[in-house]
Amino acid sequence: MTLPDSVRSHASGVMPAPVIAIDGPTASGKGTVAHRVAARLGWSVLDSGALYRLTALAVMRAGIDPDNVSAVAHQAECLDVVFETGRTLLAGADVSADIRQEVIGNLASRIAPHAPVRQALLERQRAFRLWPGLVADGRDMGTVVFPDAPLKVFLVADVQARAERRCKQLKEKGFSANLESLMEDMRVRDERDRSRAVAPLVPAPDALTIDSSNLGIDETVDAVLDLWSKRRFP
Ligand code: DC
Repeated sequence: MTLPDSVRSHASGVMPAPVIAIDGPTASGKGTVAHRVAARLGWSVLDSGALYRLTALAVMRAGIDPDNVSAVAHQAECLDVVFETGRTLLAGADVSADIRQEVIGNLASRIAPHAPVRQALLERQRAFRLWPGLVADGRDMGTVVFPDAPLKVFLVADVQARAERRCKQLKEKGFSANLESLMEDMRVRDERDRSRAVAPLVPAPDALTIDSSNLGIDETVDAVLDLWSKRRFP
């Protein structure tokens, strides 16, 4: 009997599962695109930003100073998190909505430059790499976490388009949102994510850039799937 490649490779333990890495700035649409690409391929998905947001929420709730690197890293190491379809639990409580608040996104961006925090979250992220494949979205998926990913996409969109999307998302979730202040927050966050010394937001040398400013979600998903269909894996 001939086993399918995926099962054979998995069983032999020789070949790591394929990864599509989707990196990009905040609100570039990478989360939605990653979920839809994963659904189309029947793969799992890693929202790495959620781990930074969960750490930020744990830090805030524990009243820890975000500049206290070792205390923040300790929170990241001890993160008691469960990802379920459609909801995320922190220490058993549903925090899916809490981690989407802008204040938590901004705090996540403040603690993300700490190297020990990134180190504490590294293996947790790599553990998501299972057959038949993983779509991983974040800032450093293609550069640090999965440098051997067979497809790396850098998803960009201009700040106006991103702020409009985020504004809509927040309002749909029942939060208040102001376009001008969102654009300003995004500029600050992008600059901090890009200029940090550890794992900055930069495309991997072998990443392919997709500009989604004028693309709908379906078109962006199709563009990523098209790139994947042209890859020969393994
Ligand atoms: O993708 P997001 O907006 O949920 O991410 C929130 C913050 O977490 C982002 O501003 C920077 C940080 N982050 C990171 O440093 N590395 C990642 N791979 C994902 C997120």
